Amino acid sequence: MVLVTGGTGLVGAHLLLHLIENGENVRAIYRTQNNIQKTKTVFELYQKGDLFEKINWLEADILDVPSLEIAFIDIDYVYHCAALISLEPQDEDKLRKTNIEGTANMVNFSIAKGIKKFCFVSSIAALGDIAPHETYITEETDWNPEKPHSDYAISKYGAEMEVWRSLQEGLDVIIINPGVILGPIPKTKTDDQGSAEFYTRVANGLSFYTLGSTGFVTVNDVVRIAFDLMKSDIKNERFTLIAENIVFRDILNTIADALKVKRPTIHATPFLVNLGWIADGIFSTLFFQKRRLTKAAAKASYSNNLYTNEKIKTALGTVFTDVHQYIKDISKL
Ligand SMILES: NC(=O)c1ccc[n+]([C@@H]2O[C@H](COP(=O)([O-])OP(=O)(O)OC[C@H]3O[C@@H](n4cnc5c(N)ncnc54)[C@H](OP(=O)(O)O)[C@@H]3O)[C@@H](O)[C@H]2O)c1
Repeated sequence: MVLVTGGTGLVGAHLLLHLIENGENVRAIYRTQNNIQKTKTVFELYQKGDLFEKINWLEADILDVPSLEIAFIDIDYVYHCAALISLEPQDEDKLRKTNIEGTANMVNFSIAKGIKKFCFVSSIAALGDIAPHETYITEETDWNPEKPHSDYAISKYGAEMEVWRSLQEGLDVIIINPGVILGPIPKTKTDDQGSAEFYTRVANGLSFYTLGSTGFVTVNDVVRIAFDLMKSDIKNERFTLIAENIVFRDILNTIADALKVKRPTIHATPFLVNLGWIADGIFSTLFFQKRRLTKAAAKASYSNNLYTNEKIKTALGTVFTDVHQYIKDISKL
């Protein structure tokens, strides 16, 4: 049987569907009954609502060892997708606990229970820091602790360290490092982070764009590749999963066109973004509001990191879905 963590999230829900469609027997853990509905909505979106009943749900938390003891009964393979995604400075402790300690618990159980293969969903945030003479960040690029990193990036890097440690202790592992993962467009207002936030902000009439860029990939590609890697003989390697590097202005324009709303028209230069970050800090301090623009988000919005997908293409012959076409198609669902 296959154990999936984070099954109520974007990646986990799509992974559960992909696993069931491929005949796998799956157990998914959840923390709150209500969130299971999110997974059902994903299955229904693809007209696969009947397959939802095949999931064996179990209440468990990756930070609660006794609940994991039960979750691991009769498990052969593990996909660890659960994580906290946040750029909020006040979430530093929660990020470290959920992402590092939670992953340590998952690999410790996997070693103890003789799991055959363990897939960890990491992030491009956990890849290294580019040196002045390099163009692309690859799976081999070294992490430079001297460089500034978001708490989220540090937590995903720390989680990877736990996975590499488990490899030394005999566990066969696969790590995938996706870029920003694009999924279905939420039908209702959402507080989600990540790509859902992109859609919501554009739908609400985003005026600003930046010329920063990063790697993007569709959720369907991420789960398909994770599954293919787990089924292959490949082990103890990590793979960057991006379809392409895209400038934020271009992705925002594509989303605006798909949602039939006005494109963002004002270029937020790094100077303006930083000004916004300072103003937001003063405003949130004065009025005890939650910060809307964090320093990490401000920096990410104009950074031009370039990633490469050559390793996974060579390993599996992967052909990635075109991200712009995906946004157009998904807006029609
Ligand atoms: N979304 C992206 O753009 C992106 C990009 C690169 C990498 N990733 C990585 O991909 C993975 C999945 O991301 P996602 O977008 O699917 O995230 P998501 O939609 O925010 O879902 C997160 C999942 O983790 C679960 N979770 C959090 N804390 C938990 C805990 N203590 N115990 C058990 N479950 C817990 C959540 O359960 P509840 O429903 O109970 O909260 C939820 O199912 C993460 O590891 C993330 O770092 C995401």
